[in-house]
Parts: sequence; structure tokens; C-alpha cells
Amino acid sequence: MNKARTAILISGRGSNMMALVEAASAADFPAEIACVVSNRADAKGLDFAAGRGIPIRVIDHKAFASREAFEAALDAYLRSMNVEAIALAGFMRVLTAQFIAGWDGRMINIHPSLLPAYKGLHTHERAIADGAKVAGCSVHLVTAELDGGPVLLQAEVPVLAGDTPDVLAARVLKEEHRIYPQALAWLAERIIEERE
Ligand code: GRF
Repeated sequence: MNKARTAILISGRGSNMMALVEAASAADFPAEIACVVSNRADAKGLDFAAGRGIPIRVIDHKAFASREAFEAALDAYLRSMNVEAIALAGFMRVLTAQFIAGWDGRMINIHPSLLPAYKGLHTHERAIADGAKVAGCSVHLVTAELDGGPVLLQAEVPVLAGDTPDVLAARVLKEEHRIYPQALAWLAERIIEERE
């Protein structure tokens, strides 16, 4: 089967990356994971990816003089791996408009809120502090506006009395792992169609 070659970018735990790798191990999944890239050498998810035989690459942003130089190295690696799609999965670097333009319509991100609510960090703390009754997660196309691109898929969970940010985060994370593979499948199918 013809699959869309996908890079997953991480900075830490990598549980969403693992969910994507698991989904992509199915014969009929339209994306294959071409590589996993981290900007941090200590990202826990790297070992998992390596154990699955996926090429891993650390590109440490601190080793570069500027954001642009870091992104040039990242872009060069991705192109060298014939990557067609990018899934950001807890990747904690803000990307420039220039980098994003090079992957227009081919880069997605998972965010732990019901966008457009709670862009940025500490989403669960803020939802609880506001007395929100519903929380959730969103997969969106990455555009130059941080957490502001078109939403592809969302899932809701209830906020329950007594929830701490960690408890709520765990409830949302389960849904992240469910919807992110679905959204990647859609993106991959579109890319394959465009190729034909
Ligand atoms: C997830 O909550 C994701 O929504 C956000 O960062 C977290 C990454 O977790 N963008 P993990 O590394 O995928 O476990």
C-alpha cells in the first residue's frame, strides 16, 4: 500500500507519538512513520521509537545560533528522509512562519483544549480555574498563528467536581490518543490522493 511518509516531532514523554506509531503499524493505515525527531536528547519517547526500528534524530535547538538555523537543519533532515507530512506531538518549540509555509497543509498538532479556547500552556489549570464543565483536545493544521490553525477533529470530556489538573489531563490524554491517529489518517489520505 502507498503510504504518506510522516515525521513525528517530540520534546518529551511521547505518548501521542506512541499512539501514532501503534496506529501506523496496521497494514491498512495510510501513513508510515518515517522518523521521530526530538529537539531534546533526553526525550523519553525516543527509546520507544528506536525500539520499534524507527529512525530517530536529535536536533538540539541549543546547538544553533538562531531559530532559523535550527529550523534549517530540521527541514534538511526531514527532506532527506522524504517526509511528506509532519505530526507535532508535544513538540515544545515555536516554529517560524517561514518553516510552517514550507509544510503548508501538511503539518498537524494535537492540543489539550477545545480550541479556540485555551491556546498556549497550562490548559487544564485554566479550565478548572474558570469552572469549565467540559474540556477536551483538538487536532489542528499548523499555521503561523500559534494553536490557531483550522481544527480537524476534537473530543470532549467532562470536567468533574474535585478534578485536579493532572486528573483532568489524564482523562483528556486518553482522547488525544484516540483522535490523533484518526486525524493523521485523514491528512495522509489527502496527501496520497494529491500525489496521484
Ligand atoms: C499532550 O497533552 C499534547 O496535547 C500537548 O503536549 C502533550 C504531549 O504529551 N501538545 P505526550 O508527549 O504526547 O505524552
